Amino acid sequence: MSSSKDETKNKRKNAFSRRGFLQGIGAGTGVLSTGILAEQEAQAAPAAVSGPDAVSITLDINGKSVKATVEPRTTLLDTLRNQLDITGAKRVCDRGTCGACTVIVDKKVMYACTILAVAAQGKKIETIEGLAPEGKMHPVSQAFWDNDAQQCGYCTPGFVMAAKGFLDRNPNPTYEQVKKGLGGNLCRCGTYVGVRKAVLQAAKTMGGKNA
Ligand code: FES
Ligand code: FES
Repeated sequence: MSSSKDETKNKRKNAFSRRGFLQGIGAGTGVLSTGILAEQEAQAAPAAVSGPDAVSITLDINGKSVKATVEPRTTLLDTLRNQLDITGAKRVCDRGTCGACTVIVDKKVMYACTILAVAAQGKKIETIEGLAPEGKMHPVSQAFWDNDAQQCGYCTPGFVMAAKGFLDRNPNPTYEQVKKGLGGNLCRCGTYVGVRKAVLQAAKTMGGKNA
């Protein structure tokens, strides 16, 4: 029979930290650490060890405080979709390569599939559901509509959030800056020209201001 000291040791061994998780993503997938993922890795501070049992967490999502109970290994994406029924962010690659799960965390564009829910506590999380009041279109969403920027519902929410986060930081971008700025999001059917036009239109509509 193992002593309680051994049990604690084992639990610590099995527990997860955000930094370890992000490093695991990079190593496990062979993903190059560039763009959104590189920014996330740079910010990943060592997190307090918790788990492996489920823990209660509180998240700030679109200005509302919400509670969930998750295993520490659960990603923010799975928590949003499976526990909180906030399904705008999509689960496509689930390994930080496609951008379908893009959300904004503390004003930075991030992949929700590469953030642990426990590590997202205390941060302001924005999802596409909070972009505009119900029944209204945010200028970025309107611009995607106007420019026929996407075809499917999988990549579009991620692109819209990436565009919103990008414009918040670059209110008057050039075409080339838009191209680079949205480089972390993939569309398998190649609607990139429409997307870039949409972002430029939104920048104009928003008049160089954040919205
Ligand atoms: S589902 Fe997160 S980057 Fe693809
Ligand atoms: S429109 Fe969604 S993958 Fe191309």
